[in-house]
Parts: sequence; structure tokens; C-alpha cells
Amino acid sequence: MVDAESFIDEATEEISEKVGDAHAIIALSGGVDSSVAAALAYRAIGDQLTPVYVDTGLMRKGETEGIRETFDYMDSLRVVEAQERFLDALAGVTDPEEKRKVIGEQFIREFEREARDTDADYLVQGTIYPDRIESEGNIKSHHNVGGLPDVVDFEGIVEPVRDLYKDEVREVARALDLEEVVSERMPFPGPGLAVRVVGEVTAEKVEVAREACHVVEEELEEYDPWQAFAAVVGKGTGVKGDNRVHGWIVAVRSVESRDGMTARAQELSWETLQRIQSRITGQNDNVARVVYDVTHKPPATIEYE
Ligand code: XMP
Repeated sequence: MVDAESFIDEATEEISEKVGDAHAIIALSGGVDSSVAAALAYRAIGDQLTPVYVDTGLMRKGETEGIRETFDYMDSLRVVEAQERFLDALAGVTDPEEKRKVIGEQFIREFEREARDTDADYLVQGTIYPDRIESEGNIKSHHNVGGLPDVVDFEGIVEPVRDLYKDEVREVARALDLEEVVSERMPFPGPGLAVRVVGEVTAEKVEVAREACHVVEEELEEYDPWQAFAAVVGKGTGVKGDNRVHGWIVAVRSVESRDGMTARAQELSWETLQRIQSRITGQNDNVARVVYDVTHKPPATIEYE
């Protein structure tokens, strides 16, 4: 485990030395990794840092508002409203890796524009140790590793948390007084709700996933999971009132893990499962059924795509 206080001092000093009087930019995702990297960099160089938050429309409920509040103290924060552009780019795309690619490319386009506009010399990234391992092993393409450095000719890249595990990043977040919504936030995939919607990403499926994820997070807080969420996995028949409907199937997933590389499905009480089921089917007439995923990782991954 890291000594958070000395880590913060050392990281801040290293960033100041590296960046000097130049300008830096960071893509803020709202997750704990990029938030800690941004907070460290802001401590080191203040408004020489431009944190850019791209609202892809694939974020969790209340995420954008939360970002604005948490980082209100950073005068240089930019929020890019890109929801429609992402949905347009994803229309007709069904392959999981293709989805990641489309999202990654759209993200780069949005970010590139901001980077050029701010004349940034350095790129700050919230890459953590497991990201590097999974990317090097080619297990999946992470849009937060690689890609960004190539779009603009940055003088250098700063990755202040590159040697830390997630629990160590949280420790640093607490020491930095980052609000609980950030420091205790569950990991959320870079491609957002797009990997919690099996098949084509549509505004309707994303909305079902977003509302269902919110219910699951609220109901499972007491179980303290590594990640708990819901995904739209397909369609099935159901009855609503007197009508037979063809509605969405929502899968609920809750796992324990240390670093996301392996995970165990959590055992939940029947009452909890039924409460989740009743809230999710109750909030949207187009949801026909709710199922609970009992698969560990391996053999399953944590996300659905
Ligand atoms: P999987 O689904 O591969 O996920 O078991 C392991 C951990 O990584 C997160 N995840 C991602 N994070 N970009 C990310 O930044 C991605 O493309 C991505 N895919 C999965 C996932 O939420 C879990 O914490």
C-alpha cells in the first residue's frame, strides 16, 4: 500500500518539474483514476491544466452534474456536449470491439479539437497499473490507453498514477479530499453504457441501462461491491396489464474484485433481488424481465461486451 501523503508530494513535484511553465490537458472521465490524476496535476500547475470532460451521452445518471460540482474549483474545466455525435457515430454498429473503436475515435476527435484549441504541450493521463497490463496483453482495447498521444504532437505525457492499483488510487483520492462520490466511485468502463447494451447502441437502450444501473447502485450500496450495474442484454416476451409485450431483458451484475482482472459474483438476498426487479420493471413499461448474473470472471468478463 502506498503512503498517500508522500505519494502526493512526490507526484506533485514531479508534475511541476516536468511541465514547468507549459500547458497541459487531461481528459476527465469522472472516474477515480482521471480525477486523481487531474487533482494532482491541478495542485502542481493550477490553470496551466485544462481538464476536459466529454459528455458522450453514455455516462451514468447524474454524472455530468457531479463532475461540474466536484471540479467547480478548477476554473479551466471544459465540458463538451457530444451526446448526439456519439450516437450518430454508433448507429448500426453491433460488434463489441468495433463499438470500442468507434467510441475511441469519436473521443479522440472531440479531445483533439480541445487540445489544439488550448495549445497544450503535455498530456496528463489517469492510466493505472492494471490498464497497462491488460493493454500490453491485448486482452481488450482500452480507449484510455494509447490513441490520445498520437493525435496531437505533445511534448510529453504525464501519468502520475501509472504504478498504482485501484485501491491505492482511492487511498490517494481520500488524502486529496476528493469527494466521496469520486473516491468511493465504482470503476466505470471508458466506453460507458455502450458496453452495457448488447448489440446496437440506441438512445432507448442506453436510457434503460442508465436508469437500471442507478437502481442497482442504490440498492446494492450496502453490499459494497467492486462493481454493480445493469445491462440491456436482449428482448423477451412479457405481460404488462392485459397485453403481451416484447420488452427488454435487463441483466443485473454485482461482483467482488481487487483489480478487475478476476472477479466473483456476489451472493445477494432474495429480498434485495426482488426489490431490484420490481423497481426496474416498474420504472419502464418496456422492460419485460430482470435476471441476475451468477458467473464469476473467468469465465465471464465483468462487463457484457
Ligand atoms: P472486463 O469486462 O474486461 O472488465 O472484465 C474489467 C474492468 O475493466 C473495465 N472495463 C473497461 N475500462 N475501458 C475501460 O477504461 C474499457 O474499454 C473497458 N472495458 C471494461 C470494467 O468496467 C471492469 O472494471
